Amino acid sequence: MHDFRYVGKKLYCGGVSIESLVKQFGSPLYIYSQRTLAGHFQKLDRAMSPVDHLVCYAMKSNSNLSVIRTLANLGSGFDIVSGGELQRVIAAGGDARKCVFAGVGKTETEIEFALRRGVYSFNVESEPELQRINRVAARLKKVAPVAVRVNPNVDAHTHAKITTGTYENKFGIAFENIEGVYSRAAKLKNIRLRGLQMHIGSQLTAVSPFEQAVKKVSPLVAKLRDRYKLEFFSIGGGLGIVYQPALESGSAEWWKSAAAKNILTPDKYAARLLPLLKPLGMRILMEPGRFISGNAGILVTRIEYVKRTGKKNFLIVDAAMNDLIRPAFYDAYHEIVPLVRRGGTQISSDVVGPICESGDYFCKDRPLPKLGEGDHIALLSAGAYGSVMGSNYNTRSLPTEVLVNGNKAAVVRQHQPVQDIWANEKVAPWLK
Ligand code: LLP
Repeated sequence: MHDFRYVGKKLYCGGVSIESLVKQFGSPLYIYSQRTLAGHFQKLDRAMSPVDHLVCYAMKSNSNLSVIRTLANLGSGFDIVSGGELQRVIAAGGDARKCVFAGVGKTETEIEFALRRGVYSFNVESEPELQRINRVAARLKKVAPVAVRVNPNVDAHTHAKITTGTYENKFGIAFENIEGVYSRAAKLKNIRLRGLQMHIGSQLTAVSPFEQAVKKVSPLVAKLRDRYKLEFFSIGGGLGIVYQPALESGSAEWWKSAAAKNILTPDKYAARLLPLLKPLGMRILMEPGRFISGNAGILVTRIEYVKRTGKKNFLIVDAAMNDLIRPAFYDAYHEIVPLVRRGGTQISSDVVGPICESGDYFCKDRPLPKLGEGDHIALLSAGAYGSVMGSNYNTRSLPTEVLVNGNKAAVVRQHQPVQDIWANEKVAPWLK
């Protein structure tokens, strides 16, 4: 359920017209809905309520301080992947003790920082990492809470760049080796085995890979629970969202009809997984990112030029792959709609940015209404892995970000002044 819809001919977020935001804050512009963020968190939280659980929002998907604060206020924990993300949680007023620290390459400094802040668990991805955490904890005279990430070797049937749970991937420890790792880890004095974790991939649109993975891992986790008194089992993130049709999928009616269709909803996810999880009698952790933030954000951009070549109709816009890289990187689909709805014939168009790369496009050969210079369009479902993957390529500033709540709107990230891009650079002394 999300907050972006047409009211009459105009696109709105909650009670605020997108046009009015563009007038006030310019373009390109990221717009987030607080109501959607909260709604998605609560939908999943409620669906999992029959078991003791903690939703740890994967903040890599959108780590704006206001997004974190919105979720922290609802009791969310956080899945973090760097010391920087932990600092962000703290800066946003979140609770370090509700953070799980994932990632294959944790440095000593990051481990020390996380230990001092008392994170809930380290999700450990290799034995050398386990040794390192033990060593750092010993130096600090602390005991590190740990869950080992099991790689269940289950194909998530998603894009190759976001599949993580097979032996082709760098993540986790092979299913067959887990028992050995736990028995060696149990001998490490400054390690406390607290749980087991897995994550098989991102943007999964069916429950069956989750179900297959939980079925495969459950007997193992039960055995380890008894042997080492494990408290939790983290089933990772990965719940997919609907990128198409993104607008309709915001309504309550759509969610009702989704239940009957082949669409992954939190209720279906819970209905299939809870019967497997409940008997474990453990705390269940989840690490959803995209499900919470994906449809909570859009990227608005202005059409600068319409360029017709013999073959194509190009809409050249003021946003680019540096603002939203998903189409270039994953061939991802983002629905594109005008801020002012219009009828008439549709024209097959390519929406492209100004960057000097052929990969700098948002769609190709897509039927779109007739649009001209000065019109604005919105790229939908851009709340997850949008702004966070932004870069300054072509010395382009990161855009303004706005949070909407009902009739209120506030800037939650200021447009980056261009001088800030090179603020930490220097001309070498011998060049002066
Ligand atoms: N847990 C772990 C260990 C992860 O690696 C990830 C995502 C998540 C949770 C959250 O996954 P989610 O619920 O958001 O699917 N940039 C890509 C997605 C990369 C996902 C990386 N790991 C994209 O734009 O599609």
